[in-house]
Amino acid sequence: MNVNSVALALDDNAREVFHGLTSLPKRLSPRLFYDAAGSALFEQITEQPEYYLTSTEQSIFERYAPEMIRAAGEASTIIELGAGTARKTMLLLRAALGFRRTLTFVPVDVSRFALEVAQHRVRSELPQVAVHPLVLDYDRQSSTLAQLSGRKLVLYMGSSIGNFEPMAASALLRRLRSSLARGDSLLLGTDMRKPVDVLLRAYDDAAGITAQFNLNVLARINREFDADFDLSRFVHCAIWNERESRIEMHLKSITDQHVNINALETSIHFASGETIHTENSYKFSPWMIESLAGNSGFRIEQRWSDERNWFTVALLRA
Ligand code: AVI
Repeated sequence: MNVNSVALALDDNAREVFHGLTSLPKRLSPRLFYDAAGSALFEQITEQPEYYLTSTEQSIFERYAPEMIRAAGEASTIIELGAGTARKTMLLLRAALGFRRTLTFVPVDVSRFALEVAQHRVRSELPQVAVHPLVLDYDRQSSTLAQLSGRKLVLYMGSSIGNFEPMAASALLRRLRSSLARGDSLLLGTDMRKPVDVLLRAYDDAAGITAQFNLNVLARINREFDADFDLSRFVHCAIWNERESRIEMHLKSITDQHVNINALETSIHFASGETIHTENSYKFSPWMIESLAGNSGFRIEQRWSDERNWFTVALLRA
């Protein structure tokens, strides 16, 4: 990121904090979770026994990675959106090397630190793979991907698409589709609908890591906007919204209070019991994946699931 885009990103965050906390009901964008502390907490979430998403998706890759790579048409360039540290990707890269001797891997993320970890991991374990990390927000800059050469396979894993509203998810995939050539493909991981108690536990783990992850957004606003949120006066809540088919995360104020956000020259009032809506995590049924693919110009070619059908990886063809 250059200096201008850092300044722009800061302005974006300031706008989101100001508009979100002065709206009714109050809300904050889940993008704000991922500062360095939040990204580390998210890594910890993926290791919690209740957070089945990561291990279930991993088990699907363990079983089907070579089949997925073959079905995708043996791409020469594998691009991973929101790659993070690319822990899960190794299985697919290894499978791809079973079909071809040269391979380019382009991990894309807003976190330069995560990309350095990813690059180091791939270079030390799979030196045959050329790694070209891209620090960018793929939601806003997907056209950059069009400049990459060769038959492409894009990975968008972990059900990250589920953190977007359905219209925004379709728009994101549509922009991605327009940066791909006909015949390129996308492997899309989606978390499926399942018993509500399983979902609620996944988003409110016994060790309290998800609660810390959620509350960290207030700590971040304290750090970056000179605010005085007292974290002991807010609690983490995860609820299931059946009509919208999503888990919602909220932060609930347990007292009547005012919070000053000095850098934004504003003071926010919270009534006791009032909430800030911080995240939606949509849970999919097969028809939801079909409509997402159809609305964005992709065609579903194949799907792979675990035995419980808790998670699906779909191959979408451009
Ligand atoms: C990144 N994303 C797919 C996670 C999810 O499950 O929606 C974020 C998360 N929020 C709470 N726990 C994990």
